[in-house]
Amino acid sequence: MKLYIETLGCAMNVRDSEHIISELQKKEGYTLTPNLHEADLILINTCSVREKPEQKLFSEIGHFAKYKKNGAKIGVCGCTASAMGKEIIKKSPHVDFVLGARNISKITSIIHKSKAVEVGIDYDDSTYMFADSKKSNFKALLNISIGCDKKCAYCIVPFTRGKEISIPLDLILKEAHKLVQGGTKEILLLGQNVNNYGIRFSNPHPKIDFTMLLQELSKIDGLERIRFTSPHPLHMDNTFLDEFAQNPKICKSIHIPLQSGSDKILKAMKRGYTQDWYLNRIEYLKQRVPNVGISTDIIVAFPGETNEDFEETMKVLDKVRFDTLYSFIYSPRPNTLSHSWGNKGSIKKEIAKERLARLQERHKVILQENSQNEIGKIHKVLIENNRMLLNETYSEGRSDTNRLVKIREFIDIGEVINVRINEVIGSTLHGIMVQ
Ligand code: SAH
Ligand code: SF4
Ligand code: F3S
Repeated sequence: MKLYIETLGCAMNVRDSEHIISELQKKEGYTLTPNLHEADLILINTCSVREKPEQKLFSEIGHFAKYKKNGAKIGVCGCTASAMGKEIIKKSPHVDFVLGARNISKITSIIHKSKAVEVGIDYDDSTYMFADSKKSNFKALLNISIGCDKKCAYCIVPFTRGKEISIPLDLILKEAHKLVQGGTKEILLLGQNVNNYGIRFSNPHPKIDFTMLLQELSKIDGLERIRFTSPHPLHMDNTFLDEFAQNPKICKSIHIPLQSGSDKILKAMKRGYTQDWYLNRIEYLKQRVPNVGISTDIIVAFPGETNEDFEETMKVLDKVRFDTLYSFIYSPRPNTLSHSWGNKGSIKKEIAKERLARLQERHKVILQENSQNEIGKIHKVLIENNRMLLNETYSEGRSDTNRLVKIREFIDIGEVINVRINEVIGSTLHGIMVQ
C-alpha cells in the first residue's frame, strides 16, 4: 500500500505528518510515494491559520480526486480538519475521512472507516506518542507541549489544537535519548508557547519550567544542538534568557514573535506585553548574546491599525534588525475574538498590501546590512547537504544563528564544523572551514 502525503502549515504539522507516516508504516505496511497516481491513500495535513490556504484546500481535493487511482482514499487531517469537521465532507464528497490535529494517533483506525470524522479535543497525552519517521538522521523535531492557552484575538490555533498540555519530562528525555542513539545531533523542541512549559500536565507531575527542561536535555551526551520554537515574549524572564545565553548546547537563534509594535494594537490583540517590554527583552538578550539571530512574526492591518500604529511596528523593525521576518496581512478567522468584531476597524486591502510591502522592503535592506556584518565572523555549522560534481563541489548547512552557510568543499553530512564567512550571495553566507 502506498501513501501520498502533503503537509502544510507549521513545524507542528511537519511533526504530526512524521507521526502519521510512522504509524501507517509500522501498523499498516504503507510506504511513501511522491507520486499521486500510484497512491492508495492520499492525505492532506492542513493549516487554517489564514484564510487562503483553507480556500486552496478544496481546489486541491478536486485535483487529487481527478488524478487519483481508482479506489484510492482521500483523508483531510490537521488544523482545518479540526476547525471545519464534518463540513469538509459536506463540501466535498471526495473526502473519505476527517482527522483533527489533536486526533492523529487514531490514523490507523480511521482509514478503515467510511466518512468518519474525528475532531474531538483529546487531553490524554498517552495517545500522543512519539514516532520514528523523520527526514534527516541528524536533525529531529520533538514535541514538548501541545495546544495553546493564550487566545490572541486573531488566532485560530487554540481552537484547532485545544488547551495547552505539557508532555511529561520523562517521556521527552526518553525520546531525546532514543534520537541521539539513532544519530541525531540537533533537536528542535516544538510547542506554541515553549517557554510556558510545565504549566499543565494531564497527570500530576513534579514542578518544572522550560529553563529546567533545557538544562535536563543539555545533559544528554551526544546531543550537540538544541533549538526551540516558538517562545512567547511575555514569558522571557531573565532566568530563561540567561540559560539561553550561557548554555553552549542552545543554538544562538531565537524566534520572538512581535505581531505589532503598537501598544494599542498589542492590547487589542491580547498579546499581554508592550513595545517597551519587547524591546527591553531584546536589549537584555543582545547584551548577553551580541551575535544572536532573531526572527519574528508580524501581522499588518489588524482591525483598527492606523498609520501611526504601523509606524510603531516599523520603528521596532529598525531597532531590533531581525534576521528573518515572517509577515502577514491580517486574515479574519472563525472562532476568534477579532472575527466577532465583524467589519469594525477593518483596513482596506490596498492599504494592507502597501504596509506589508513597505515592511518587507525595509526588512530586505536590513537583511542585506546584517549579512554584510557577518563577513569575518566564525560560525558553527551543521552540514545538511553536500554535492560533488565535475564542476561543482559544495556543502551547506545552518549556523547556530540559523543562517544558511555554503562552503566550497565536500564535507560529510552531519559534521559540525567552524566556518569563517567571507562572502554574501543573495541571503546565503559563504565561507571557508577553519579549525
Ligand atoms: N504560537 C505562535 C504562533 C503560531 S501561528 C506564536 O505565538 O508565535 C504563526 C503566525 O501566524 C503567528 O505568529 C501570526 O503572526 C500569524 N497569524 C496567526 N493568526 C493570523 C491571522 N488571523 N491573520 C494573519 N496572520 C496570523
Ligand atoms: Fe496563536 Fe497566540 Fe497561541 Fe501563538 S500564542 S498560537 S498566536 S493564540
Ligand atoms: Fe500550525 Fe497552521 Fe495549525 S500554523 S498549529 S498548522 S493552524
